[in-house]
Amino acid sequence: MTQPATSQPVLYSGMQPSADSLHLGNYVGALTNWVKLQNEYDAIFCVVNQHAITSGIDPEQLRTRTLSTAAQYIAAGIDPEKSILYVQSDVPEHAQLAWILGCMTGFGEASRMTQFKDKSQRYGSDKTTVGLFTYPVLMAADILLYQTQQVPVGVDQKQHIELTRNLAERFNSRFGETFTIPEGFIPKANAKVYDLQDPTAKMSKSAPSEAGLLSILDDAKVTTKKVMRAVTDADGEIRYDPEAKPGVSNLLTIFAVLSGRELDDVANEYAGRGYGDLKKGLAEVVDATFTPIRTRTAELLDDRGELTRLLRSGADRARERAAPTLDLVHERIGFPTRADL
Ligand code: TYM
Repeated sequence: MTQPATSQPVLYSGMQPSADSLHLGNYVGALTNWVKLQNEYDAIFCVVNQHAITSGIDPEQLRTRTLSTAAQYIAAGIDPEKSILYVQSDVPEHAQLAWILGCMTGFGEASRMTQFKDKSQRYGSDKTTVGLFTYPVLMAADILLYQTQQVPVGVDQKQHIELTRNLAERFNSRFGETFTIPEGFIPKANAKVYDLQDPTAKMSKSAPSEAGLLSILDDAKVTTKKVMRAVTDADGEIRYDPEAKPGVSNLLTIFAVLSGRELDDVANEYAGRGYGDLKKGLAEVVDATFTPIRTRTAELLDDRGELTRLLRSGADRARERAAPTLDLVHERIGFPTRADL
């Protein structure tokens, strides 16, 4: 197997640049963990623009969103000098490995991916692309190229990580040890943030209404309004009980993660008080978290030359790591390697 560049275990993750701003679900479910873990791991973070085109292509928008997503990673605390930060399409090895893995993935196996089933039902078969169908195979390639041990993601990605593990095991047992078998690093408490208007649905950029979605780059006035209008329930009691009180429990979870406090501590502070108090407190915490990220993102985007330079250098470092894995894969399956060319 190819060796990582440092003795720290390899951590890999990515987000799609498919909206003008990352949202609270991305931040709480994934990005906060990336920032926490980057010092203990040999961390690699990707802006997965090839995944983003599985649901439509708008070139200008994609260019802007790709840079903005990278800027938001850095503004939230990713250090591009310590960690590797790059754009997926700058490293052609991803698409090359995805093709090979796709030839080892069963049609039925890919058809069982729930995210594909949900999205294809929503778009209808004419608008469902082959790229959307093979999305999880490309994700497996992303992860396996870097001999990744840990993949910090929200719980919605669990099935994709399972597929990645299965493909790695299948390849290794057929062609010899080649890939590290990765594990999902999925936080227990905050792996899923729910929509503020429909607290039984995942917070998502593709929700039918924007009212339940908190975007990092939204103005503080907008986020405060959305928090104050969040759906709760009629019983008026503040306690953590996701079954009976999904709305209030979601607000408590978000509060705890953003303030770095224990859930019980926050629930105790607000026990016996009104929902309005909890929402006001949460709106302040959201503002205190997002405002510095928003300001820093704007500064980074003001110097696009420097941001582009950082991403180019990240892509060079990523390619140095990805190329030996792809070479080994080529050798194992009988393709010419770079040494043969
Ligand atoms: P994306 O862009 O859809 O989501 C990015 C990350 O945000 C998490 N997330 C949530 N977490 C908690 N609550 C929510 N409501 C919520 N919504 C989104 C997702 O779990 C994810 O961690 N397929 C990946 C992108 C990807 C990737 C990879 C990730 C492509 N290649 C390789 C890891 C490793 C995705 O879901 O992106």
